[in-house]
Amino acid sequence: ARASHWDKYLAKLSSVGSISEEETCEKLKGLIQRQVQMCKRNLEVMDSVRRGAQLAIEECQYQFRNRRWNCSTLDSLPVFGKVVTQGTREAAFVYAISSAGVAFAVTRACSSGELDKCGCDRTVHGVSPQGFQWSGCSDNIAYGVAFSQSFVDVRERSKGASSSRALMNLHNNEAGRKAILTHMRVECKCHGVSGSCEVKTCWRAVPPFRQVGHALKEKFDGATEVEPRRVGSSRALVPRNAQFKPHTDEDLVYLEPSPDFCEQDMRSGVLGTRGRTCNKTSKAIDGCELLCCGRGFHTAQVELAERCSCKFHWCCFVKCRQCQRLVELHTCR
Ligand SMILES: *[C@@H]1O[C@H](CO)[C@@H](O)[C@H](O)[C@H]1NC(C)=O
Ligand SMILES: *[C@@H]1O[C@H](CO)[C@@H](O)[C@H](O)[C@H]1NC(C)=O
Repeated sequence: ARASHWDKYLAKLSSVGSISEEETCEKLKGLIQRQVQMCKRNLEVMDSVRRGAQLAIEECQYQFRNRRWNCSTLDSLPVFGKVVTQGTREAAFVYAISSAGVAFAVTRACSSGELDKCGCDRTVHGVSPQGFQWSGCSDNIAYGVAFSQSFVDVRERSKGASSSRALMNLHNNEAGRKAILTHMRVECKCHGVSGSCEVKTCWRAVPPFRQVGHALKEKFDGATEVEPRRVGSSRALVPRNAQFKPHTDEDLVYLEPSPDFCEQDMRSGVLGTRGRTCNKTSKAIDGCELLCCGRGFHTAQVELAERCSCKFHWCCFVKCRQCQRLVELHTCR
């Protein structure tokens, strides 16, 4: 039940104006006591935590825009509905993307020089085996990950980390951060006569958050249903189906199957798919057949305003006309 405060905390964090005073930390509903303490001690980092929460919600809604469950936040609590407070696959995704969001935003803040406590990763230096020079500001992902681990995971650790839900949440939090780590990239700049690249300097950079969201969405589709099992003196989560490959640190895991999300059920926070826009020609989940759960769909002609006949004018602007185009819009019954 305590896990249910997580989404409250996310929504609260992402909607608060700014966190610049210790008082704000106390007013943030949904934070547990240990987090309030961390908030006060790390005030300058809290704005990044807030940005991370926003980033996570936006990315979740983007990745799930064509799904029956579209990561909608509800006005009434719990924010994402019961599916996130239960141990479902959707909860797995929300936890993973949120802990990744915090790690990502804190890391970027370090690089931008906003924070006193961290800066660029100075451990990346020298000449690489490929012959380029490490130089410039490498993103300090280790700091971002460590901050996310202590700030986000403390919610689960405070429960003794022994309940199945705590184990599930901790696993998915870590999988979220791993999605950044495994997609770290090397960015380079060429130096030399007219960009001849005689000297190349490179630095390590976090991937765009969109890529992290996409990777986690793939993990969502391939998530493993698990159950708790006693292993020696502790408990661990193992695949419910023994024929399945054991999950890795990077996979998402869940404990309970999800509802089908077809019909509205406000008590569970399920909005249903009535009124959702669907794709008439797609056979996938965004297609009208699946998205509308076989209820059928309405078709309407709508006028779409578009820029057209664009001309480039010397120098330097582009002028377009407004054109109206008729398109068919399908929505679920
Ligand atoms: C999600 O779907 C509901 C209807 O089921 C709709 O009201 C809402 O605007 C959608 N949210 C997003 C973020 O697209
Ligand atoms: C609808 O689905 C088809 C087939 O998957 C795809 O080619 C098309 O781009 C989709 N249309 C829209 C508007 O997303």
